[in-house]
Amino acid sequence: MIRIAAVGDVHVDKDVVGRYRPALEELPDRADALLIAGDLTRHGTVDEAKCFAEEFGGLGVPVVVVLGNHDHQSDQQDELTRAIEDAGITVLEGSATVLEIRGHRLGIAGTKGFGGGFAGACASNFGEREMKDFVGTAERYADDLERALKSVECDALVALTHYSPVPETLVGEPLEIYAFLGCYQLGRSIDAAHAALALHGHAHHGSERGRTPGGVPVRNVAHPVIKQAYNVYQLLSDEVDTTLIGAR
Ligand SMILES: [Fe+2]
Repeated sequence: MIRIAAVGDVHVDKDVVGRYRPALEELPDRADALLIAGDLTRHGTVDEAKCFAEEFGGLGVPVVVVLGNHDHQSDQQDELTRAIEDAGITVLEGSATVLEIRGHRLGIAGTKGFGGGFAGACASNFGEREMKDFVGTAERYADDLERALKSVECDALVALTHYSPVPETLVGEPLEIYAFLGCYQLGRSIDAAHAALALHGHAHHGSERGRTPGGVPVRNVAHPVIKQAYNVYQLLSDEVDTTLIGAR
């Protein structure tokens, strides 16, 4: 069995440093790796990235992250990525990594993803150039995710995104903004690669649990949804979900 701790939307700036750390110190006893589903910072500055690295670096377990839309706010995503990688944290964008955990190979492929909506209520690749660019962006992120997922050989495969691959984990958000919270193309990629679990954030008012059309469990791990420093999920096990007490 592999145990994965996960959270998203931690939005670290100088005022947040220290808030997660007490629960994180216990993490190596509870999980084999920590995955963070984007929105690591508040405004995407390098200073905030350093705050994030201070809070989530040096934990004693591997930490793997994707960026979120907030991490793009200052157009410094490359510098921000470098600052986080300097702390020994793996940043995925259309790429994958494999972690060796007690004889098992855990594959993680990630992308920020993008919006566009879901079956019956999605943007279509038609008309103005701006609309084609919008939908094309969503498709490019989803295609990159699929390629990354299929590139790894592992015993358990996890898809890590910021935007949601399904509408079920958005329940609680206004219907009118679903199209800005995720897109069906991400779910299609996750199904095509037969991932064991998909983790995302971004939807602060959404719901924790959903499933892709192909049956892959999806978990919205946005901090305001899970209401603790991280949740723990199990792979190579009959049950994905665990009950974790005291990770606030
Ligand atoms: Fe977000």
